[in-house]
Amino acid sequence: MADVSTTQPAARIAGTGHYVPEKVLTNLDLEKMVDTSDQWIVERTGIRERRIAAEGETTSDMAAEAARRALAKAELEATDIDLILVATVTPDMPLPSTAMFVQQKIGARADCPGFDLAAACAGFIYGLSIAEKYVRTGAAKNVLVIGVELLSRVLDWTDRGTCVLFGDGAGAVVVSPARDDGRGIASTHIYGDGRLAESLCIPAGGSREPASHETVDKNRHLVKMIGQDIFKVAVKNLTAASVTALEHNGLSPDDVDWVVPHQANSRILEGVSRRCGVPMDRFYINIDRFGNTSSASVPIALDEGVRNGTLKPGMNLLMCALGGGIAWGSALVRL
Ligand code: ACO
Repeated sequence: MADVSTTQPAARIAGTGHYVPEKVLTNLDLEKMVDTSDQWIVERTGIRERRIAAEGETTSDMAAEAARRALAKAELEATDIDLILVATVTPDMPLPSTAMFVQQKIGARADCPGFDLAAACAGFIYGLSIAEKYVRTGAAKNVLVIGVELLSRVLDWTDRGTCVLFGDGAGAVVVSPARDDGRGIASTHIYGDGRLAESLCIPAGGSREPASHETVDKNRHLVKMIGQDIFKVAVKNLTAASVTALEHNGLSPDDVDWVVPHQANSRILEGVSRRCGVPMDRFYINIDRFGNTSSASVPIALDEGVRNGTLKPGMNLLMCALGGGIAWGSALVRL
């Protein structure tokens, strides 16, 4: 474990939790649905299977379960939470926020504020950045940050270019004041570039193209993506954000115990690993089992790694994520 000094963080991750639905959809299952193959998917993405929410299961159901598990780990009650942030692009409804459904499902205080934030796959890093600032300023003591996606309901299951990539799930953390032990959220950096906004989008269902028979007939309410646009910018921007996190904290790649990255595509991560100098065997990878769960992927990986003993207290974790927007960011956390 690296022994390095960074400035005293103001906020820490006090507890983590995740939830994934039971139903497994394998690449072999997909071979029966679209013109694809297990070999193509594994070679191009690293994905072998993903989870799919049950009929009737909602985004807020998954979020609430991940939140309960994070609260239990933090040894806090739902009534101790002062702010609920739900990072998602697949809310229960466009109005109201999914955060309000989560408030009710976990039994948080009836006056506990909460809101959704839409930064696609970077949503959890954005949420962590906001939570850290609320805790640092004293505006909130305990903030629940949830990354959750139910993408299976907005995928075009006839488009092999997108439907093989994504999965459903939720991850949550409780952000609380740091103790005087050097552990906590050392930095967050978030970025956006709207020039590629339409390379990954759901064109219809918003105010620009309201839902109509025509939009549904043309599948305009489902995810559209120009994969190669995203791929190129992902390697470049994830590397830049990761290097910034290290430089900001005076760390070298050797000081990073684990990278906990957004699980978009193993080839993207191999590119980031080569360029930022942290070897792949220190990247926590679970994309093979869960696919790309967008905003949920970093907190799912974080909680899984904590619970299986890979990610230990005091370790330096580098988190990075990029997604539609384009939105991206990084965080350096001493666990
Ligand atoms: N099975 C078989 N063939 C396929 C599939 C599939 N599931 N999907 C596409 N193909 C075909 C294409 O039609 C194309 O065929 P053609 O040459 O006859 O036209 C061929 O495979 C190559 O297609 P490309 O798009 O060039 O394949 P590429 O190597 O770029 O891989 C991929 C596609 C995996 C989508 C890649 O571009 C990628 O990962 N991009 C990043 C996108 C991403 O991760 N998005 C998630 C959200 S954003 C984020 O999380 C970072």
